[in-house]
Formats: sequence, structure tokens, C-alpha cells
Amino acid sequence: MSIPFLQHIWIWTWIANLTLASTSTYTIPPTSPTTAATLDPAPIGLSYEFFTFPSYRTNVTATPQCEKNLAAAYAGTYPPIRIGGTTQDRADYDPNLSAYVTYSVASDKDAPKTLKYGPRFFDLAGGYEGRVVLGLNRGHNDVGNTVEAAKKAKGVMGNLVGVEMGNEPEYFKSDGQAIAKGTWNAATDAASQANWQMQVGKAIGNLIQASNSLQSPPQWGAEQLLNAQNSTALGYIKTFSHHNYPGGSIQSLMSHANVVKNVNSFKSDVAAARKAGKEYVFGETNSATGGGAASVSPSFGAALWVASISLRATSSSISRLYFHHGTIGACQYCWFGRYSMGAPYYGAIFAASAFGGGKSIVAIDSGNSAYAAYVIFGADGNPARVALVNSEYFTSGTRGSHVFVLEGLKGESVHVKRLTAQSATSRVDEGSSPTWGGQKFEDGTCKVVGTEVKETVKVEGVRASVSVGSSEAVVVYL
Ligand SMILES: *[C@@H]1O[C@H](CO)[C@@H](O)[C@H](O)[C@H]1NC(C)=O
Ligand SMILES: *[C@@H]1O[C@H](CO)[C@@H](O)[C@H](O)[C@H]1NC(C)=O
Ligand SMILES: *[C@@H]1O[C@H](CO)[C@@H](O)[C@H](O)[C@H]1NC(C)=O
Repeated sequence: MSIPFLQHIWIWTWIANLTLASTSTYTIPPTSPTTAATLDPAPIGLSYEFFTFPSYRTNVTATPQCEKNLAAAYAGTYPPIRIGGTTQDRADYDPNLSAYVTYSVASDKDAPKTLKYGPRFFDLAGGYEGRVVLGLNRGHNDVGNTVEAAKKAKGVMGNLVGVEMGNEPEYFKSDGQAIAKGTWNAATDAASQANWQMQVGKAIGNLIQASNSLQSPPQWGAEQLLNAQNSTALGYIKTFSHHNYPGGSIQSLMSHANVVKNVNSFKSDVAAARKAGKEYVFGETNSATGGGAASVSPSFGAALWVASISLRATSSSISRLYFHHGTIGACQYCWFGRYSMGAPYYGAIFAASAFGGGKSIVAIDSGNSAYAAYVIFGADGNPARVALVNSEYFTSGTRGSHVFVLEGLKGESVHVKRLTAQSATSRVDEGSSPTWGGQKFEDGTCKVVGTEVKETVKVEGVRASVSVGSSEAVVVYL
């Protein structure tokens, strides 16, 4: 047993010493295939924790610029935002409150246990340049207050595209929420959601973003609600949302095979929603729960995960992903803050640039190796860009690489823009920023700095060989 194993190691060492890289070959479809998924104009969005949304908007310089950079990558469409999270079910609407929001906390790292918000909260959200999903309270079991808030929001927000009633209802019981007194399980929640859909829907129309669970389908999810609710209740649903926080180590998080496995676990739930004519989104996602894991979430590996999950989810007909931003100053996975950028923002910009206002996407890799390949098609149905990710975990020593051989290309050359960092563990706040096409985003302002670098790769015949280092990704512009 041990001899072939050693030989195997020896061959790879020998190859590494010759700096020969492993290779895989992909055929670029000449036009968008029927298996391609339709792309939203701006698939990667942001989720802002309810209580802290006004601070992100009014008191964090980087917020509008980071959103604007994404809009530029999307050929003009601002990223969609969702306002919600645990504190949406702790928040009551007060029509007489002049502040955006009021609460008190012992430390500025804490989320409030209870809060109030006023009509100006909706003015602020309505001023945003992109689409907004608003998360409202169901936990307190005060449907009158939620209907009043929903009506006001609908009245002042021209950009309102969805309203949630409750965040992660499977935790209502353990959170001591009033609505979960007595029996509370997936079935009672489905009936409760139906009842609220009809009352809120009657007031504002079919704008409901339903489900919003974190625990896995089929117990909690779209399929469960579709089976449990009648057509009147379902008629008010516009979108089904699920939350997704894979967790794990940097290496397991960024692994392409793990990303594929995670997205595949939603296949049946997505199919059920789409069969019913509804979109399916990851309404709240990020690398790890509870604001993120300090040893994982701020890393460049987590940036590669942001890119990978966004490309794979959209290829699997998950329309949008909203990456969560929690308490300012206590948020490991955040893309930006008052003082420092977060490496994961680079993964978002990378994938947004690959989408670039494209109309459809298809995954063309096997799904079980470390190498990911996606083709994005334009409005004319022609391939426009290819996104390639080498998810091999690199920290130090000699960096390996993989050659993606792309076949079926036209023209003499293609341009390549590279997302890289010193290692998968690199962090901006530790002085090691990633670069995207040679450029960085400035701490505190999110402004692009540096000169854009695009590499040129020759097309020989119909074929181009694109080398991507371990823990690196590229966009190939066709
Ligand atoms: C704005 O941020 C500063 C910290 O930089 C903080 O002290 C202040 O309370 C914040 N103001 C609001 C309105 O959130
Ligand atoms: C708001 O103010 C009006 C009159 O000024 C009052 O009738 C109403 O009860 C107040 N509502 C709340 C929630 O305090
Ligand atoms: C669905 O259920 C509600 C009551 O919960 C009822 O008012 C409505 O008529 C039902 N719709 C259908 C199509 O049965």
C-alpha cells in the first residue's frame, strides 16, 4: 500500500520542480445553451442588519462607494439590498418617532434586544439607488404594527421589491418570541406565514419574500411552504428566500467541491419555487454565523468563497445573494467598515465583474475537483466572459498553478484579469490586501486605487491556455 502512495508523491514533486502545472480542458459553448440559468442584472447584493442600517447609510463613508463600485461592475445596476436579520423581529414601528431608529446597548459591539424605528427609516431606504427588500417583525405577534409599517414603506419607497415577515422563524421559540408561545414547528410556522401573507399582502400586494429560514430544506424551506399553504396565501409570495452560512475552516469553505455540494443541497427547494413561478434567493448569507469567524471570515480564502458561491448559486437558478453586514466594528465577514476594507469584498467585485450585466450563466466544470469554470453570455446569446477559480488552498512555499485550456474561442487573443493575494489567509487589516486586476480598494473610502492590469493570452487555433495559481481566480474577457 505504501509504495504506490510514495511514488504518487514523488511524481507530483517532480512535476512541481519542473514547474509543470496540471491541466483541464473546457469547451466554450458558441451560444447560450438551454441548460444556462438566467442572470439577474445584479445578482450579488448586501444584507444590512436591521438596527444598524441607518448607521451604514449615514455614518460609514465606504458604504455608498462600495455599492457604486459594484454597480460599475454590473454595467450600471446598483446591487440589491435587504434590510433585516435577528433585530427585525426585535423592532417595532413607531409612526411618531422622528429618529431613524432608537435603542440602547451596553457596548457598541452589542445588538439591541429591543428597538423602535420611525418613518424616516423608510425615507432613507427609499433613497437608495437599487432595489430594496425590507425585513419586518413577526416575532412580536403584532400584525397590526407590521401592516402599518409595510403600508408606509410601500407608500414612500419606489424601490421596494420585497417584504419579509420574520427572520429565521425556526428560532422564534428559543428566542422567546411571543408568536411562538405554545406549539411552534415548521407546520405551525407555515400556517402563521400564510396568515400574515394574506394580511400584509392585502395591504401592499404580492411583495412577500417568504420562508427566510436558516435550517436546511426540506424541513424548513420553499417546498414545505408550497405544500402547506393554499393558493390565496401563495399568491402573495413573490420570492422564496433561504439563509446560508456554510462555516468551517478557510480550506473547507473555499473548496470548490464543498461549494458545489452546498448549492446542490438546495436543488429540490429551488426547483419547487421556480415551478410555482417564484424566484429563489439566498436572502442572507455569509461565511459563518454570528458576525463571522475571526480565523476564517476576514481572509482572502473567504473572498474566493464569496466569488465561488455567487457563481455556482446563480448557475443553479438562485437569482440573488445578499451578503450580510452586521454590527459595525464587530463584523468579521464584512466587506468594509469605518477603517478597513475586508478581503471578501474582492470576491464580490470579482464575481460582479464576471456577471457584468450578462444575461445567462452556465457551469462547465465537473463539480468535483478544485477547479471551477463558468461561462457568462451576453444579451446576444454569445459567450462574453469566462470565470475560472483554482480553489486549491495555498498558504506559503511554492505556489502551484493549474492551466485551464479553453477551446472554441474566436479571435487572436483574450484578456485576463486576475484576483490574487499573497495567500489564502491574507487579511487587509493585517496589511496584506488582495488585488483585482492590480488594483485595490482604499481603506475607509472604498475608492479604487492603482492602475488596472489586464493580461493578454494568445488564442492558438481555437484554444487559449490560462494559468491560475492555487487560491487565485481570473475573469477571461472573450
Ligand atoms: C458615527 O460613528 C461614530 C464612530 O466613528 C460614533 O461615535 C457615532 O455614534 C456614530 N453616529 C451614528 C449616528 O451612528
Ligand atoms: C402618534 O401620535 C398621535 C397623535 O399625535 C397619537 O394619536 C398616536 O397614538 C401616536 N401613536 C403612537 C404609536 O404613539
Ligand atoms: C385559503 O385560506 C384562507 C383562510 O386561512 C381562506 O380565507 C381562503 O379562502 C383560502 N383560499 C382558498 C383558495 O382556499
